[in-house]
Amino acid sequence: MIVKQCLIFLLYSLCANVFKVAGMKSKAKGSQGQFPITQNVTVVEGGTANMTCRVDYNDNTSLQWSNPAQQTLFFGDKKALRDHRIELVRASWQELTIRISDVSLSDEGQYTCSLFTMPVKTTKAYLTVLGIPGRPEITGFTKPAMEEDVITLTCTTSGSKPAANIRWFRNDKEVQGTKELNATGKSFTVRSSLQFEVDKRDDGVAYTCSVEHESLSKPYMTTEVLEVHYAPHLEITHSLIIPQEGQYFKLECVSIGNPPPEPVLWSKDGGELPDIERMIVEGRELTITTLNKTDNGTYRCEASNHLGTSSAEYILYVYDPNALGHHGPDHALIGGVVAVVVFITLCLIIVFGRYLARHKGTYLTHEAKGAEDAPDADTAIINAEGNHVHAEEKKEYFI
Ligand SMILES: *[C@@H]1O[C@H](CO)[C@@H](O)[C@H](O)[C@H]1NC(C)=O
Ligand SMILES: *[C@@H]1O[C@H](CO)[C@@H](O)[C@H](O)[C@H]1NC(C)=O
Ligand SMILES: *[C@@H]1O[C@H](CO)[C@@H](O)[C@H](O)[C@H]1NC(C)=O
Ligand SMILES: *[C@@H]1O[C@H](CO)[C@@H](O)[C@H](O)[C@H]1NC(C)=O
Ligand SMILES: *[C@@H]1O[C@H](CO)[C@@H](O)[C@H](O)[C@H]1NC(C)=O
Ligand SMILES: *[C@@H]1O[C@H](CO)[C@@H](O)[C@H](O)[C@H]1NC(C)=O
Repeated sequence: MIVKQCLIFLLYSLCANVFKVAGMKSKAKGSQGQFPITQNVTVVEGGTANMTCRVDYNDNTSLQWSNPAQQTLFFGDKKALRDHRIELVRASWQELTIRISDVSLSDEGQYTCSLFTMPVKTTKAYLTVLGIPGRPEITGFTKPAMEEDVITLTCTTSGSKPAANIRWFRNDKEVQGTKELNATGKSFTVRSSLQFEVDKRDDGVAYTCSVEHESLSKPYMTTEVLEVHYAPHLEITHSLIIPQEGQYFKLECVSIGNPPPEPVLWSKDGGELPDIERMIVEGRELTITTLNKTDNGTYRCEASNHLGTSSAEYILYVYDPNALGHHGPDHALIGGVVAVVVFITLCLIIVFGRYLARHKGTYLTHEAKGAEDAPDADTAIINAEGNHVHAEEKKEYFI
């Protein structure tokens, strides 16, 4: 019963709503409810724009589209302006849709749809045309750049509307540039500059200019790799810490510089290397096959490129293995290390011991360890206190 009543009620309310809507519809059919509806359109330049004007309840009144210059484009299905880019898509009493292909920036503006009732009803649709930015170009690269030069990299993109956004990246890490805008006609030329002092760490670094715009699905990017020329920086590495007579010994002259400095020149005590078979020079390396104490002295390597000359020195002191004793330097070193380790371990044991003593003291005070072997509570407390005192003493002992 209740279900039936509910169904009847539901049906009734549904019907009532349908009649309400129908009533509204019939009301809208009067000329007062007769109005054109349009929508704003955004299109990328070169694309196609559909301009739609709808009249839901029309008593056969004509529709018209006109452009921002108030020129009629279509009156119903009749073409009024001679522009091959503008075509009819659909013409009925309910709808007038036209298509503008190969849209240019100058097509942008307010288009009007008119419904020729008495008085005429109009509605506006704004056509927005996006200007596509050109591929970014980077200028200001001096190839190669010299260390300490101050250079300005400039990235330029033109033709964007609205103005495109330029971002700079130094090896994927964003860096801040300065921005400059110029309007050229309806679009913009955007320029961003990056000024910095060239460092040798800039050698091989990629500078990327990225252009972002709503007309692009992914940013346009241009990358330039900086080449930096710098004077050599030298350093000598040696194969032994404590060179001894009779040992094999090698010095290496590590040089960085761009262009790479070549060749490396070795000298000893301000003069040429002694002409002996034991001394071999191979590129950056100087090898002494059997050390002799006559090899003592200052060794120097020198290298240059067109930006300058640099040098590094190493003072060789050949130890007499007999003078060092039987233990040898390595044994002495190991001995030293062992001594340090033992010392640290001892320190740790002492610190840990003190820590334990302090905690044990607290533990005894609280838990009254004495209670276990005490005949009564009083003795237990006394015992506990005694233990506590003992712990305090221990602490003092460790301090
Ligand atoms: C414009 O209308 C035509 C025809 O209805 C349709 O094929 C096309 O996809 C529309 N273009 C746009 C950009 O809406
Ligand atoms: C509208 O035009 C159609 C023919 O295109 C005609 O049959 C109809 O009577 C007209 N309606 C009105 C309200 O003028
Ligand atoms: C259409 O564009 C115009 C101009 O840009 C704007 O004032 C208006 O609010 C827009 N209308 C709608 C429905 O978005
Ligand atoms: C903008 O115009 C000024 C003056 O004509 C010019 O100096 C400047 O370089 C231009 N900037 C851009 C980004 O084109
Ligand atoms: C070192 O050189 C001197 C002279 O050239 C030579 O007499 C001596 O035997 C050498 N010592 C060693 C350990 O080779
Ligand atoms: C070289 O070193 C030895 C110690 O091994 C020293 O006795 C000697 O005087 C040094 N010779 C020179 C030329 O410096």
